[in-house]
Amino acid sequence: AQRKQIDKVLALFRLTQEQLVGVRNKMRVEFEYGLKKDTHPLATVKMLPTYVCGMPDGTEKGKFLALDLGGTNFRVLLVKIRSGRRSVRMYNKIFAIPLEIMQGTGEELFDHIVQCIADFLDYMGLKGAQLPLGFTFSFPCRQASIDKGTLIEWTKGFKATDCEGEDVVDMLREAIKRRNEFDLDIVAVVNDTVGTMMTCGYEDSNCEVGLIAGTGSNMCYMEEMRNIELVEGDEGKMCINTEWGGFGDNGCLDDIQTQYDKEVDEGSLNPGKQRYEKMTSGMYLGEIVRQILIDLTKQGLLFRGQISERLRTRGIFETKFLSQIESDRLALLQVRRILQQLGLDSTCEDSIVVKEVCGAVSRRAAQLYGAGLAAIVEKRREDQGLEHMRITVGVDGTLYKLHPHFSRILRETVKELAPQCDVMFMLSEDGSGKGAALITAVAKRLQQAQR
Ligand code: BG6
Ligand code: GLC
Repeated sequence: AQRKQIDKVLALFRLTQEQLVGVRNKMRVEFEYGLKKDTHPLATVKMLPTYVCGMPDGTEKGKFLALDLGGTNFRVLLVKIRSGRRSVRMYNKIFAIPLEIMQGTGEELFDHIVQCIADFLDYMGLKGAQLPLGFTFSFPCRQASIDKGTLIEWTKGFKATDCEGEDVVDMLREAIKRRNEFDLDIVAVVNDTVGTMMTCGYEDSNCEVGLIAGTGSNMCYMEEMRNIELVEGDEGKMCINTEWGGFGDNGCLDDIQTQYDKEVDEGSLNPGKQRYEKMTSGMYLGEIVRQILIDLTKQGLLFRGQISERLRTRGIFETKFLSQIESDRLALLQVRRILQQLGLDSTCEDSIVVKEVCGAVSRRAAQLYGAGLAAIVEKRREDQGLEHMRITVGVDGTLYKLHPHFSRILRETVKELAPQCDVMFMLSEDGSGKGAALITAVAKRLQQAQR
C-alpha cells in the first residue's frame, strides 16, 4: 500500500510523448508571438534582440576584460585573443557575491563588482590599464544596441533594489566613476547563452544555438532578420535571447504542473514568474525534491514520519547533491551518507525512495528541455525550407555538466521530437566570458571601422 502511494506521487512527474509534443508545440507558438512587434497579451517568452549579428571570423585580436555575473560564480577575466590561429588565452578570478549584496541595493551590488575588478587589475598588475570590456550579465535585458541593456526583471537568486528598468551598463559606468580609480570602455553587454554560443561558435561555425542548463534555464539562437519585427532591416541574421525561462507564466503549462511546483514557486523570490525555469533548472530542482520529501514524510512514507528542521530548510538540496545521489556508481550506503551530510537520517528504504524522487524530477527537467530545444531546431529547419538540417548547440551550466543522466535524456528527447534534425551538442569548456570577449572584439572592430 505504501508503494502505491509513492508511485502515485512519482507518476505526476512522468510525461507522455503526447504531453511532450504539446510542450514543444506551445513553445513554438510562444517563439512566434515573441518575435512580433505588437506584443501579444499572452506572450511570455521574451525573444530579446541582442544586436549580435555574426560569428567571430578569426580576425579578432587584442586584450579584453570580461565580467561574468549571474551563474554559480562571479568571474572577472582577462582574455587575450590572437588572430589567425584562433588562439585565446584567459586568466580569471572567481569572486563571491554575498547574499546581502545580491539582495541589497543596486549601488552596493555595482560597487562590489567594481571592487572586484579593481582587485583583479591589481592582481594581474594591470592597474591603470584602459581595456575594452565585455559584460556577461545573465538576466533578461531589453537592448537597443550592443552596449546598452535595460534590466527587465531579476531572476534566479538576485533581487537588488533600483536596478529593474535601469541600464546595467550605465550602472556599471557610474560605479566606476564613483570609485574614480580607473577607466574602462564598456563595449558589449551579453547574456550567458549568447556568450556560450559564441565560445562554441569560435570552434564550430555551425553553432547557431546557445543553451544554459545551470542555476537558470535559457536558450538563444540565430534568427533571420526578416523575422524580427522589432528590429529594422531584413538582411542577415541576429541572435535572439529567448528568455524561455518565462514560458508557462501565462498558465499554458498548468496541466503538467504539480502541487510541488506550485509550492516551489510560492516560496521563491519571484512568485508566478519563470515557471518553466522553475521546473527545469538547478536552482529549483532540489527544491522540488524537498517539497516531495516533505509530503511523503507527512504521509508517513519516509523518515519515520518525522519532518526534521533540516528538511524544512530551503535550498539544502543543491544540484551537486542531486547529481551525486543519482550517480549509478554510488551504493545506497553512500546515498545514505549524503543524506546524513544534509542532516537527514535515513533507512535503506528511505534512500531508495529519495533516489527515485530525484530521478523523476531530473528526468522531467531534461525532457522539458528537450521539448524546448526541439521547438527551436524545428523552427530553424522549416524557416530555411530544409527537409533535413544539421545544427550545433553550444551548451554550458552545472546541471548539464554534473548530472549523470540529464544530458543523455535531453539528447534522446530532442531526437524523438525533432527527427528531421541532426543536433550536435558541444560543451563549452571556457564559460561565456570568452564569448563575451569575442563579441567585444567584433564590436570594437566595427566601432573603429565606422569612425
Ligand atoms: C558558465 C558561464 O560557464 O555557465 C556563466 O560563464 C553561466 O556565466 C554559467 O551563467 C551557467 O551555469 P551555472 O550552472 O553556473 O548557472
Ligand atoms: C535566467 C536568466 C537568463 C539566463 C539564465 C541562465 O533564466 O533570466 O538571462 O540566461 O538564467 O543563466
